[in-house]
Amino acid sequence: MNKLKQLYEGKAKKVFKTDNPDIYLIQYKDDATAFNAQKRGTIVGKGVVNNKMSAYWFLFLEEKGIPTHFIELLNDREMLVKAVEIVKTEVIIRNIAAGSMSKRLGIPEGTPLSQPVLEFCYKSDELGDPVINRDHIRVMKLATDPEIELMAEYAHKINGYLQAELLKSNITLVDFKLEFGRFQGEIILADEISPDTCRFWDSTTNKKLDKDRFRRDLGGVEEAYQEVLKRITGGKE
Ligand code: TMP
Repeated sequence: MNKLKQLYEGKAKKVFKTDNPDIYLIQYKDDATAFNAQKRGTIVGKGVVNNKMSAYWFLFLEEKGIPTHFIELLNDREMLVKAVEIVKTEVIIRNIAAGSMSKRLGIPEGTPLSQPVLEFCYKSDELGDPVINRDHIRVMKLATDPEIELMAEYAHKINGYLQAELLKSNITLVDFKLEFGRFQGEIILADEISPDTCRFWDSTTNKKLDKDRFRRDLGGVEEAYQEVLKRITGGKE
């Protein structure tokens, strides 16, 4: 499989074409941004952690029956994936209030929610990924009704699978963001599942083991990424 022309460079990843039109190559970078790229930095080793952790979760979820874009891990920073068209609707699930939900609604960070809360966001850097609802998605033609329902169903199932698995590592899944893609007419899970896209808290101490350490200048960023990968994969990644 040859790496061909770069298709796209995002804030944390580059996507390349390959000689197979159905397959893209994703390369994970150490670049970190926050607050819609107003804050920029580097988290040494992040690309390796996010590549390995995403591969781990994609394989785990495929075994549970969730279709994903993952094909295979190539090396520390690169994986092959199905060439999806990304749905411009992000799906967030929250189990505990934190981040933008706490800010927007005045619910103190750390407050357990009585049920998982699903949010959709319009994937737009220019607009700062605003929260939207099903009606917005429909009138903006971002996804069809069956696609919306399927993404929501997958997101809730993924939440249950991840929460149960993370419990074994004494990690609480506070919230996370998913992106889906269309491939050969089907909706499949795409993008990444990593400390950039999830809030992971140590279940005993509530220590943050995710990108909030970078966003909030808490220190120990690289160490947290390494620790959470090791805890989750047990070094078998
Ligand atoms: P939020 O509380 O800032 O809205 O973040 C909710 C979840 O989404 C959190 O787990 C981090 C993740 N996230 C991303 O993956 N990308 C982003 O650009 C932002 C702002 C959050």
